[in-house]
Amino acid sequence: MRRTRNSRSARLRFAALATALALGAALGACSPGAPSAPSPGTSGDEADPQDGAASPAPLPSGELVSASPDDLRLGVAVAGGGHHLETGLGSGTALADETYASLVAENFTSLSPENQLKWEWLRPERETFDFAAADELVAFAQEHGLAVRGHTLFWHSQNPAWLTSGELDDDELREVLREHVETVVGRYAGQIEQWDVANEIFDDHARLRTQDNPFLGRFGVEIVADVFRWAHDADPEAVLFLNDYAIESIGPKSDAYFELVQELLADGVPVHGMGFQGHLSMKYPKPGDMRENLERFAELGLEVAVTEADVRMAVEDGVASPEDLAAQAGYYEVMLDACLEVDSCRSFTVWGLSDAFSWVPFFFAGEGAATLLDEEYRVKPAYVALVDRLATGR
Ligand code: G3I
Repeated sequence: MRRTRNSRSARLRFAALATALALGAALGACSPGAPSAPSPGTSGDEADPQDGAASPAPLPSGELVSASPDDLRLGVAVAGGGHHLETGLGSGTALADETYASLVAENFTSLSPENQLKWEWLRPERETFDFAAADELVAFAQEHGLAVRGHTLFWHSQNPAWLTSGELDDDELREVLREHVETVVGRYAGQIEQWDVANEIFDDHARLRTQDNPFLGRFGVEIVADVFRWAHDADPEAVLFLNDYAIESIGPKSDAYFELVQELLADGVPVHGMGFQGHLSMKYPKPGDMRENLERFAELGLEVAVTEADVRMAVEDGVASPEDLAAQAGYYEVMLDACLEVDSCRSFTVWGLSDAFSWVPFFFAGEGAATLLDEEYRVKPAYVALVDRLATGR
């Protein structure tokens, strides 16, 4: 078992946090409110003497990082673009908010741009790259000593219309992809540690997405190898991942990746990692065999990573029950345990800092509360459970 950074201080922080959370939860203070803009700066540390309530759950204050083994990156997706375009955030990134920015800087060691490195964001027009938002995130990460996970170079979603309209012939399409990969990876060479090179290339039936993905439909699976080679040439140090959801357990979809990645490795393709997104739902059982699944990829010599963890549940008017919030912790624990138990899992990323920024309510009506912090940035039982688990080391 490896030593944690500061296991004594982590345990003390954990004990204080668990007590504070228990007090808050006993009074129902931890339940998230209906979706709304977060109220940064409202720490909620002091109870209102008028209503006689005790302290609600606290804001996080570096407990995850203090408890974490030195060789594990703890990541968070930084909100911006995508579903946020329909919210008060508009086209900005949440880092403009001081509380949000300091919570990211103090509580994580890695960040993933949630949308700002996707094609629709970087390539609004064929001839134009727009790196402004991505540059801002990378600069923020550097300023605060965070690593960056790049997401993503090759996907069936969030592509600009000029790319998917079918107007490019095969040579043009291939050339545009090569140029994109080389330009984007090259720009951030030495600054983006890991890339989700190819994202979600198999569908829910474990079939290659030849219908949805504009490149797979035209060139077949061979193009995946090219994308990895181009990315590797552009930044030989970057760790290059395949990445997908619903592959946490062993089954047809994770098997499809297991076969593909072995073929790629046998062909000498520079694929270095397998990313398990970890978008779980409490409607379904926990992925009890996740460690075993990660282990089989690790045995191929790959890094593995949990890249987009969140755990959604049924909510009523945006509010989750205390019982469900308590049960949610077990789902997060399964994912963190799997990662901690596999040596080559060096990165565990959650998809959103707080429920105020989660993609879940926009995609799943009646579900939410999927992240570690509520809409006021207060810690939930899942957060406390992860601190506890990290403090025991690998
Ligand atoms: O493209 C439409 C546009 O035509 C329409 O006018 C506009 C207004 O509703 O919506 C646009 O789609 C939005 C899309 O982002 C593109 O901007 C969706 O509403 C919006 O919900 C979507 O959200 C992003 C989603 O990826 C897209 O699939 C989320 O912000 C982002 O968190 C989410 O992240 C993905 C990872 O990249 C990959 N893994 C799954 C994860 C969660 O879905």
